[in-house]
Amino acid sequence: MLPSSPGAIGVFDSGYGGLTILREMRKLLPEYDYMYLGDNARAPYGTRSFDVVYQFTLEAVKSLFERGCHLVVLACNTASAKALRSIQQKDLPGLDSSRRVLGVVIPTVEALGGITKNGNIGVLGTPGTISSGTYDIEIAKFFPQYRTVSVACPMWVPLVENKEFDSPGADYFVEKYVEELFAQEPDIDTIVLGCTHYPLLIDKISRQVAGRAAIVTQGELVAVSLKDYLHRHPEMDAKCTKNGTCTYLTTENPVKFTELAEIFLDAPIAANHVTL
Ligand code: DGL
Repeated sequence: MLPSSPGAIGVFDSGYGGLTILREMRKLLPEYDYMYLGDNARAPYGTRSFDVVYQFTLEAVKSLFERGCHLVVLACNTASAKALRSIQQKDLPGLDSSRRVLGVVIPTVEALGGITKNGNIGVLGTPGTISSGTYDIEIAKFFPQYRTVSVACPMWVPLVENKEFDSPGADYFVEKYVEELFAQEPDIDTIVLGCTHYPLLIDKISRQVAGRAAIVTQGELVAVSLKDYLHRHPEMDAKCTKNGTCTYLTTENPVKFTELAEIFLDAPIAANHVTL
């Protein structure tokens, strides 16, 4: 039996990337309680198969529900691309049809209409997100007139997770993937950073893009979309507690987790270990 009393908003990522989303949610909606879960022991997800990402994500969602969350945001593009739809359609009805799981892809795609001028969109993401074709499919649904090109960036998450995002070695892989994108379509005017880890590489990415396109990060877009969702769903809003707290859970060693998490959040935190 899942707890029925109100609880925190659950935020899930394979590791640290979702912290870039959580940070913006807390800025825009500071009154809510949040429970962040990073599956750091099994990250990265980006190179894993559909079945494995779905299984791992479902375990995380169940764990957050058991810990009192009624609403869970998958703050991970790979999980949103590979697991969200199955969880919403197959699993939620059996788990608790009043609970909700939201992702990061739709809020990002919806915002593109206000950003691109020529409709040429570039998407950078993990191999899992890019090979799923989720961005191409969703962009085509919302904006059939747009043209989308994408490049998988398998080295960017490991660079971030290994604290190498500021190192000279990162320059090589930033140049490589950004230029592969422009090689497909030189006229791109908007680039989606379709992975929640990538904001940590934003300085290098901006330098490489050098004004050729607008760069879209997701934190603020997802936070605005969450605010709108809670406004449109007062019954869910009533199930979200509001004491301004944030709990951090990780499947890794919590001391190891806090070291890098503090770089993402720019603030000290405490974390607890969890087994999924
Ligand atoms: N942060 C996740 C995303 O947005 C990917 C990280 C991973 O590969 O686990 O796609």
